[in-house]
Amino acid sequence: ALAEGMDIERITSLPAVAETARSCLICPMAHHATQTVFGEGSATASLMFVGEQPGDQEDLVGRPFVGPAGQLFDRALQEVGIARDDVYVTNTVKHFKFFRRNGRRIHQKAGVEEIRACAPWLRAERRLVRPRLLVMLGATAASAILQRPVVIGRERSHPIPLDDATQGLVTVHPSFLLRQPTAEAREREYARFVEDLRLARSLIS
Ligand code: URA
Repeated sequence: ALAEGMDIERITSLPAVAETARSCLICPMAHHATQTVFGEGSATASLMFVGEQPGDQEDLVGRPFVGPAGQLFDRALQEVGIARDDVYVTNTVKHFKFFRRNGRRIHQKAGVEEIRACAPWLRAERRLVRPRLLVMLGATAASAILQRPVVIGRERSHPIPLDDATQGLVTVHPSFLLRQPTAEAREREYARFVEDLRLARSLIS
């Protein structure tokens, strides 16, 4: 098993990084979750998407964005003609964090400590995939990557230069779309999200 201080930075291939992350025990979440949910997709993708953390279904299946938010994300990608196989999809934190209530697993927001502990994995993914554009889905991904507080409404929908000389783009998290109170709001926000994906596509073509 992996302990804190191990040199993730020296791993030179994406499959090796993913394999090493499987036995990561850097943070306490690793002891509760079913498995590490590492990023997946094209190792040479121009476009990388970063979400927050795996949810209940991702934890059980072992793949990112396969639950309700992931299905909506897939639909939006399809709508703008982005094939999921051509991009790389990952999360800021690689384990599901939850507590139990009446036998059900209730999602808990990852904290600053977990985000900090997991950061070397995302750094390794960025270093090895080298996307031209990094799309940050929601405030957790955006503030972890930009390393400052981010208000999505102010920073979405325009390219932002990142420290590794690539471009970043902030948009909402797909679960934000699921949380809209009315069908009308849901449709409006979904359309804005699709527009952001269209912009992402145009920025790499
Ligand atoms: N939400 C996320 O941020 N990531 C997933 O993988 C699933 C839901």
